[in-house]
Amino acid sequence: SVERTLSIIKPDAVSKNVIGKIFSRFEEAGLKIVATKMLHLSKEQAEGFYAEHKERPFFNDLVAFMTSGPVVVSALEGENAIVKNRELMGATNPQEAAAGTIRAEFASTIDENAVHGSDSETSAAREVAYFFNSDEVCPRTR
Ligand code: CMP
Repeated sequence: SVERTLSIIKPDAVSKNVIGKIFSRFEEAGLKIVATKMLHLSKEQAEGFYAEHKERPFFNDLVAFMTSGPVVVSALEGENAIVKNRELMGATNPQEAAAGTIRAEFASTIDENAVHGSDSETSAAREVAYFFNSDEVCPRTR
């Protein structure tokens, strides 16, 4: 079915100047960008977004990294968008990511791994709403 998922192009990938290359991966896979913006996350925004990880040992480093520079947050729409985006990204650890995936190509460590993508329908709904009001999402009917 047609789904929406949240993508974040993380500070390492923005710094490498590959926003367009990553957008092209989405478009070539048939995913449509229905909302997008660049922003520099505050500590509070990053902590709230990653609240489910707050007891993990990497939480403080994750928040520090995600607030280290601008990110590009987007809502992607398409058939099976959640799984499709996760396939395009590859494994969380770039060392384990399949050849040709975004993380294999643009990332080198698990901490700075180029992109985030929602992992389920429940998290996709929460994550899209975390960054976008409903009037900022533009359904792509043509
Ligand atoms: P992301 O999909 O943005 O969700 C949480 C992030 O924490 C993850 O990508 C990784 O960049 C980072 N991270 C660091 N260490 C780990 C780990 N051991 N397991 C999962 N995620 C980790």
